[in-house]
Amino acid sequence: MAEPILIEGQRAWLKHYGEGSRALALGLLNFVARRFQLDALRPPPHRGGAQAREIEARRLDELKAQGIHVPDVIGQGRAALVLEHTGASFNTCLRQADAAGCDRLVAAAIDAIAQAHRRGAYFGQPLPRNMTWDGQRVGFIDFEEDPLEVMDLGQAQARDWLMFGYGVAKYYEERPQVLEALLAEAMEGAERPVVAHAHEVTGRLQRLARLLLRAGKSGRALAHAIVVLHAATTFGFVALLVLSVDWLADGELDLLDLFT
Ligand SMILES: Nc1ncnc2c1ncn2[C@@H]1O[C@H](COP(=O)(O)OP(=O)(O)O)[C@@H](O)[C@H]1O
Ligand SMILES: [Mg+2]
Repeated sequence: MAEPILIEGQRAWLKHYGEGSRALALGLLNFVARRFQLDALRPPPHRGGAQAREIEARRLDELKAQGIHVPDVIGQGRAALVLEHTGASFNTCLRQADAAGCDRLVAAAIDAIAQAHRRGAYFGQPLPRNMTWDGQRVGFIDFEEDPLEVMDLGQAQARDWLMFGYGVAKYYEERPQVLEALLAEAMEGAERPVVAHAHEVTGRLQRLARLLLRAGKSGRALAHAIVVLHAATTFGFVALLVLSVDWLADGELDLLDLFT
């Protein structure tokens, strides 16, 4: 839980870490994710109190060192952090924007995530409610869980795209092809294992997506996210497949000759 506070007239955020709970729900999700090989969706352990505060403070340090725009830690207690204000909620901005504004915001967010990934960073839950916008820069918040406890970096980066796609899909119900194009462009620059894993996971979820389409508004958003991300990761995945077949055939990448 985070609440806005004022320190010498400046807005800041006081984040409290309650005791860990949700063990049953997380256990169930973990079981499903393992059973269906959805590694990127395995839930990291949800800790509470001082442990959660420690994880968030460490992750904020790491991300800052990687050049990512995250809040400075300006104070702390046993189970609380005081964080610099990094801007308005990205979710609120998306809700208030028109279609063109939405596309600009989403493109900026995709750029910020892609750039962070190129620097070796990962987020965990880059949903619009865990991102901020100050008119120029996308900020990232909420790091009390660390996906690297249960997956590798490639899977964690694939998870970021799945989370982000899911978070913004509801703003693109009428224009899924626009979101697909924005994501596909980012996928061209992403590491191959990341794209391949996002493609695999969304592939395994296709049947679920068909069911979800009939399951109310949030079900529909999840279904659209699965379909859009699967399509957006297709080109990179197919290209990877073609290259591997090409290489396996004779150990040479003939295709590369076409580009030289
Ligand atoms: N540093 C910050 N700058 C701007 N808004 C923030 C900041 N920290 C928290 N918030 C606001 O508080 C909300 C909850 O904070 P978050 O860190 O996501 O905690 P929770 O674990 O409760 O989701 C966010 O969605 C955001 O609106
Ligand atoms: Mg949050």
